[in-house]
Amino acid sequence: MMTKRAGFLGLILCCVIQVNAQTRFTDARAERMIDSLLNLMTLEEKVGQMTLFTSDWDVTGPTLRPGYRNDVAAGKVGAIFNAHTAAYNRELQRLVVEETRLGIPLLFGYDVIHGYRTIFPMPLGETASWDLAAIERAARVAAEESTAAGLHWTFAPMVDIARDPRWGRIMEGAGEDVYLSSLAAAARVRGFQGDDLSAPNTLLACAKHYAAYGAAQAGRDYHTVDMSDRVLRETYLPPFQAAHQAGAATFMTSFNELNGTPASANKYLLTDILRDEWGFEGFVVTDYTSINEMVKHGTAANEAEAGMQSVKAGVDMDMQGAVYYNYLADQIRRGEVSLSLVNDAVRRILRLKYALGLFEDPYRYCDEERERRVVLSAANREVARDVSRRSIVLLKNESQVLPLSPNVRRLAVIGPLADNQADLLGAWHADGRAADVVTLLRGIRERVSPQTDVRYVKGCDVQSADRSGFAAALAAGKQADAIVVAVGEHEWMSGEAASRTDITLPGLQLELVQALIRLGKPLVVVLMNGRPLAIPELAAEAPAILETWFLGTEAGHAISDVLFGDYNPSGKLPVSFPRSLGQVPIFYAAKPTGRPMNPSDKYTSKYLDEVNTPLFPFGYGLSYTTFSYTKLSIDKPTFRLNDTVRVSVTLTNTGSRAGEETVQLYIRDLVGSVTRPVRELKDFQKVNLAAGESRQLTFEISAEDLSFYRADMSFGPEAGEFDIFVGGSSDANLTGRIRME
Ligand code: NOJ
Repeated sequence: MMTKRAGFLGLILCCVIQVNAQTRFTDARAERMIDSLLNLMTLEEKVGQMTLFTSDWDVTGPTLRPGYRNDVAAGKVGAIFNAHTAAYNRELQRLVVEETRLGIPLLFGYDVIHGYRTIFPMPLGETASWDLAAIERAARVAAEESTAAGLHWTFAPMVDIARDPRWGRIMEGAGEDVYLSSLAAAARVRGFQGDDLSAPNTLLACAKHYAAYGAAQAGRDYHTVDMSDRVLRETYLPPFQAAHQAGAATFMTSFNELNGTPASANKYLLTDILRDEWGFEGFVVTDYTSINEMVKHGTAANEAEAGMQSVKAGVDMDMQGAVYYNYLADQIRRGEVSLSLVNDAVRRILRLKYALGLFEDPYRYCDEERERRVVLSAANREVARDVSRRSIVLLKNESQVLPLSPNVRRLAVIGPLADNQADLLGAWHADGRAADVVTLLRGIRERVSPQTDVRYVKGCDVQSADRSGFAAALAAGKQADAIVVAVGEHEWMSGEAASRTDITLPGLQLELVQALIRLGKPLVVVLMNGRPLAIPELAAEAPAILETWFLGTEAGHAISDVLFGDYNPSGKLPVSFPRSLGQVPIFYAAKPTGRPMNPSDKYTSKYLDEVNTPLFPFGYGLSYTTFSYTKLSIDKPTFRLNDTVRVSVTLTNTGSRAGEETVQLYIRDLVGSVTRPVRELKDFQKVNLAAGESRQLTFEISAEDLSFYRADMSFGPEAGEFDIFVGGSSDANLTGRIRME
């Protein structure tokens, strides 16, 4: 911090930072330093800390718009996003440190969503691992790489519950379930932030998009959200609260309105719940220009008014909209916004800059040597391969088509995604590069025996009406002993602003696969997609189906590990797969209705033209072995409020190879003061068993697990009976009953 232009700030810091450089979130020395800074800062400098602008990326590398460069040099910008690489960020940091009056370091943010350069599975896919340690490891690698490349802050995890596969951003979250999403949110926060923010390999996490963004009407991105407080609190807020409890340093507001008030002006969300109820002490940033967008929402006449609404609701930093930048200082001067509100926001931002150690050494995250060593290292790729294969879900495996023998004589590898690099990165791939990606074809070629003749034919594009490649694909299929066909979506078909009204396989892909199936050969469909797809025909006709999402850099290796049985698939769906779009939204934790479905009674809750059940339920996924569940026992079928009930089951590996099962426990509250879901996931365990091995597993249930928002909206349990279900999916059918007195 002691630089030629640091001036009197340098002096203050010298006194405050002293010998021990250990920093914490609310450190007494940090508070003293911030007090001193706030006394020194002009209004414009304060607003600058609340301003976040983007950097750009040109063919020549990273660039900053000239206007922004001037603003940075004038202390009118406190944070920059999309700027990355150690050398570039060092240069930008130098600009503030050496040229601004106070030299307050910049904060660099970036969407490091599923990896920085080594790309991991898209988050929904990674959640299919149900492996919290693996999820945390992936975030840790992303943190290692991105902090070496100059970054302090990731705009992740995205923790929006999503139950509508039309919404393209379903790929960024952890799926439909409250419990699993909450655990995944916490694991990702831990992975990014570690347990010491001042360590140079940890960065600030950002829980987004607060809140209820995943419930956009009709699955259309940015669309209206209108929901009861009960649904908000029971379903959409818990993953945010879990991220907060895991220590998430920042929150991002969402684009949507919630019950008439845009999230970026929503005092109920930002102040009443986040700060007052939960005690969040970090800072809140808006999503991209979402303050400005309130004019179009129609809740502010102009941007100045929108900005005032945001700062009063509890938004600390304005992403890209320049609304605070343009209006806030004058609004304070005119007394329209209180100075203390702004001082509080600036304090929250400076605290985190301090916690990162930036006042001690603003360049500590710009380490070119570490960047060269860490980014895309062989070790990181190895972690990505492991996390990727854990994320694959085996949806179907008729007659044990899988695993394939690596000695198969002739293997046809077909489909638009079989030799594809770019799409496998998935949306939001940060600095991930297509050229780094191991394609499925390469993964297969590296694994099969030298005698295997691997023949690749594309067959058709992901999205086109051109059948001219079919003949060659069918000819290759005809000559082959086995066929692997990779189909799905382009990566740009999911992610932001990528909603679809048709969730079947695009283009002619289904037709191609069906023609190949008719050849009658052992055939495996490898799906690569950013959302649950409606694939009833494949489910009925294809001998084997692997759901591989977009797995990132090591995709081809990971899929081959599973195809040839080097890894026994263990993934379970974190989201229901519908049979058709007409069933959407479809999720397992639905409410019962007064007329539960009865096939022989017309006047019950069902469709005329479709069954109610999903094609593949939440929690579902097969293995190359089989598991049986027996002997459910309950130690205290009747218990009191402060007791813990132990539910035990015996899991047996009934197949002929070792495998991993995710044992899931669901409950149903039979009678409540308000209706309760037909099932709710409450716990799970991942268990490895050798062929033939049995193990007794025990789950503990306490009143906390049975708590919910009661009729009066107080949170707690109610006495009564609860059904327990244990099994390998949300269809678990080993049951028991407990009663709380
Ligand atoms: C808009 C997206 O909604 C958000 O998730 C992202 O972090 C920002 N843009 C910044 O890229």
